[in-house]
Amino acid sequence: MRPLLFAANWKMNLGPGEARSYLATFLKAYAPQPNRQVWFFPPAVSLETVANGLGNRSDLLAGVQDIYWESKGAFTGAISAPLAAQAGAKAALIGHSERRHVFGETDEQTGKKLAAALAAQLHPVLCVGETLEQRDSGQTLAVVKRQLAAALGERAATVRVTIAYEPVWAIGTGRNATPRDAATVHAAIRAWLEQHGAADTRILYGGSVNLKNAAELLAEQELDGVLVGGASLDPLAWTELVRTAVA
Ligand code: PGA
Repeated sequence: MRPLLFAANWKMNLGPGEARSYLATFLKAYAPQPNRQVWFFPPAVSLETVANGLGNRSDLLAGVQDIYWESKGAFTGAISAPLAAQAGAKAALIGHSERRHVFGETDEQTGKKLAAALAAQLHPVLCVGETLEQRDSGQTLAVVKRQLAAALGERAATVRVTIAYEPVWAIGTGRNATPRDAATVHAAIRAWLEQHGAADTRILYGGSVNLKNAAELLAEQELDGVLVGGASLDPLAWTELVRTAVA
């Protein structure tokens, strides 16, 4: 059985009280499965609740959805990698498409955040993906490679990260890439990583992944797991998704 990572991105949902009852349900329903890791990215206000709630199960982990690159100081509203680590984060989403497209994060800023995560020993999950316009004009691979180069660059061979390929047009829209489409882009990302000395990097797929399409997507050997937003918000549905049987 190949190792798979299931990452739940709660986005701006589930405050501390809701997170506590979510975990109570999830932990009762979900026993560790061989070769499966489940990572939770709650909103920052719920991070400590989730990190503590997961206890010391080695298959479960909490991460932060976004960080600022400075480690402390007069940056009202921002959270640094060391602060997230103090609250129990072990990983960080970096360059999620909503940070890039709703909040205007640039490739350069994504790179600085990735470096800050690494410096604080948070495992970065670097998100890349093209918009519909870029896809329609045949730029998907160029965009994804540019995002990889901007964030990882020469560091690729010396650091450990996870990549999440999330086509922007598939996020929260109910439209998802076909398993073949996803696998094609994953293969290109894999080729880039190999060229840059990071062949053993995990690559997740994200964008409207749900109970109905997870098995078909994960049947593609190129996918090492999924990053899931909407379909991770109900603890029992998420439990079922994480238990998806993979051919
Ligand atoms: P979605 O979000 O599953 O709701 O499309 C995925 C993500 O943005 O990480």
